[in-house]
Amino acid sequence: MKKRILTGITTTGTPHIGNYIGAIRPALEIIQENDESFFFLADYHSVIKNPDANKIKQSVEDIALAWLSCGLDPKTTYFYRQSDVPEILELSWILNCITAKGLMNRAHAYKAASSLNESDPDKGITMGLFSYPVLMAADILMFNSTHVPVGSDQIQHLEMTRDIAARFNHLYKPLLTLPEPIIADNEKVVLGLDGRKMSKSYGNVIPLLEDEKKLRKSVMKIVTNSLEPGQPKDHKNCTVFDLYKSFANEQKITEFQNQYDDGISWGEAKEILFNAINDELEPIRSKYMDFIKDKNYINDVLSDGSRRARTIAKENILEIREVIGITKIS
Ligand code: TRP
Repeated sequence: MKKRILTGITTTGTPHIGNYIGAIRPALEIIQENDESFFFLADYHSVIKNPDANKIKQSVEDIALAWLSCGLDPKTTYFYRQSDVPEILELSWILNCITAKGLMNRAHAYKAASSLNESDPDKGITMGLFSYPVLMAADILMFNSTHVPVGSDQIQHLEMTRDIAARFNHLYKPLLTLPEPIIADNEKVVLGLDGRKMSKSYGNVIPLLEDEKKLRKSVMKIVTNSLEPGQPKDHKNCTVFDLYKSFANEQKITEFQNQYDDGISWGEAKEILFNAINDELEPIRSKYMDFIKDKNYINDVLSDGSRRARTIAKENILEIREVIGITKIS
């Protein structure tokens, strides 16, 4: 069966190598020649927690350029901004009308936010946060996607999408496809400079698109212990080693492990890590530099992507409107 794979990319922040290892690289590897793929920038989702217009705009640009630089081919993939396909928002409202509030009450993200509140459970909870899963369902169902690659934190959203689709199909007509999740089995936490999960909010990220000098500087800042050169080092629980595993093959990893046993110095170990990362990022960076030279490039790519995606969305929304009675009076 031909798969229609769709995934949304939340547009917050600037991509770092944690995003690259954890999201970008695996998502691009999933796409097989025969499949259709839809990758979109979930910019309306990012409005929920972010009232800063400039940040949203900048992040959409940075993230789109990162995916393109990492090899996403906008000719063979539908690559678009959610906000450029207004039919998604239209569908989102339609789905809101049939979604049980009780279903949304059970959403982990909403429950986590409201459980932090002491007396008033609704404090700081917007309708956007509450109905986040409905917009996500609309993203997926708009295109009758068959497969959705997601992190394990998103599985519940996908189950909700299936529930909502089944309800629509039951109430009206089986127009919506129930999607299957694709869950990466090698999902791992990427460690940052201080050994905690790499995250912008911890300020411990290694940049993806910065120049070689900044990359080296960042790698050299990885926190290690104070063992001297010549003293054997434990490759387990070591951020340098852990990151290296994401950029090297089995044989190289074993070699590096032997060097740890032999007492490699931290300076040398970091140099080896830097080279491994840099070899992989060099072609990505050079594409990025090419892309930003042409001011129109990103807008051209995204408007072409949304034009193609909209052709499908427009056709589907007409059918959906028809079955719910929002149609021409005959
Ligand atoms: N909620 C997803 C996340 O936080 C992003 C997303 C939005 C998405 N819409 C989607 C993912 C549709 C898959 C399909 O990662």
